[in-house]
Order: sequence, then C-alpha cells, then structure tokens
Amino acid sequence: MPPDESIMRLVARLLPAPHSGPLPLPPVSLARTLSKLGYGTRKETERALAARRVTTVHGVVLGDRDTAAHGDIRLDGEPLDPPQGSVVLLHKPVGYVCSTSDRPPLVYDLLPSRFPHRDPLMATVGRLDADTSGLLLLTDDGPLNHQLTSPRWHLPKCYDVSLAEPLGGDEAALFAAGTLMLQGESTPLLPATLEVIAPQRARVTIHEGRYHQVRRMFAAAGNHVTALQRVSFGPLALGDLPEGHWRVLTSDEVMQLRDAARAAKAAQR
Ligand code: URA
Repeated sequence: MPPDESIMRLVARLLPAPHSGPLPLPPVSLARTLSKLGYGTRKETERALAARRVTTVHGVVLGDRDTAAHGDIRLDGEPLDPPQGSVVLLHKPVGYVCSTSDRPPLVYDLLPSRFPHRDPLMATVGRLDADTSGLLLLTDDGPLNHQLTSPRWHLPKCYDVSLAEPLGGDEAALFAAGTLMLQGESTPLLPATLEVIAPQRARVTIHEGRYHQVRRMFAAAGNHVTALQRVSFGPLALGDLPEGHWRVLTSDEVMQLRDAARAAKAAQR
C-alpha cells in the first residue's frame, strides 16, 4: 500500500534539503563572541546566557548556539558594542592619554568599559600626545592598523595649529622642502604643507607620525605650538563630532580608508 501522501509531505519537511554547495559553518558560540568583545570570561558569558540575559531585539532568549545578526542581539536589553573588525573614530579631548595602562585619564575612559578587555584589543591607530585633541581612530583589525601606521606609507594627516608667535612667512617653504631635520633625528622630514589661517593659526598636513612631529616642526621654525588639533586622517574628517564622543565608521568609510592606504602604499613604490 503506498504511504499516505500527507506523511510523505511531513517526512520531506523534516529531512534536510538536498545540498549542492559547501556545508554551512556550524554556529559560532555566542558565549565566546561575547567574551571576545570584553563582556567577561567565557564562564561569565556562559552564565549570562544561562540566566537568559541575552536576547534578540524582540526579547527572544538566545542560547549559546543560536545565531542572530550582531545588531539584533541584546545583553540586559542593551545593544552590543561594535563587532570585531570595526573602526571607531573618537574626538579625543586634550589631557587624555592614548594607552591602556598609563596614568589616567585614558582615551579608553571615553569608550565602553569593555574595550580594553576585547580580544583582539581595540587599539589606537598611532597616538596623539596628551596635549593634542582631535581625530583618533581605534580598531581591532591588526592588519588595517598596521597599514594605517606603517612608517613606509603614512596617509596624510591634517592638524589645526595655534601658535605663540605670529607666523614668520617662511614656514611653508621650510616644511615643503623635505630637508627639515628635527633635533635628534637622522633622516629629514618628508615634505609637509602649511596653509595660513590667521597670523597665529595654520593648518599643516604631514605624511609621517614622528614623535611630537608638528610641535617640533614649529620649534624648528622658532615658534611654539599652544594648541594642536587633528582635523583629518586620510579621507576621514573630524567633522562636528563633539569632543569626547565617538562613532563607528560605516563600511563605506572603512573602504575609503583601505583604498587610501593602498593608494599611499602604491605612491611610495
Ligand atoms: N604632532 C604632534 O606634535 N603631536 C601629535 O599628537 C601629533 C602630531
């Protein structure tokens, strides 16, 4: 006797669909993902899951092997920190140190408390002096961080500079020459550009990241920097992001950054 058609339909629904492509990856452990984002040890994040504190945006309780889009996951009702591979743009105020372990205040004090505990670390892309404000990037994408800070192909970085003395008029030529030697260094600086904004204010674009570079450039020109703010990094501008605030770069912005790094590298060849 042929099997009942409704039973056949039920069996077909329960059997996995025939597969032609690669096998799907097993779901990633949510406890592991949370732990890597700095939410606690693996044991602690397992406990958070067991306590039903991890849900979807709609309140459905998630288990360790459940899959959900990063943006849809909530821990205690709060959205998660940016996923791995993100780039963050911070408007660093004066006084904050680019370190995880120096004397506070640290730039990490302005970011989610999990950031210094992430694995990999959400590291600063280069540094700004404690006395410098402005655009600071952080990322846990190590290769991208390396590309953006490699001394061989630095992206242009633009600084607004306030000076103790009026500009003398010859700074632009001095910086553009590519021969300026800073004290204690053995190679001259790459050419940099200077745009005069006011008698005691200028915008300077450099392509390196030497220690206290802009301050030392003006010291070499017989002046003194009283305030320094980084206003752009490659294609990214600080814009009107308030001081002390941060935002995650969009995927378009990260792509622009990668393209600019590639272009800077190619230009060095
Ligand atoms: N040049 C400086 O002197 N300081 C900075 O923080 C960045 C560039």
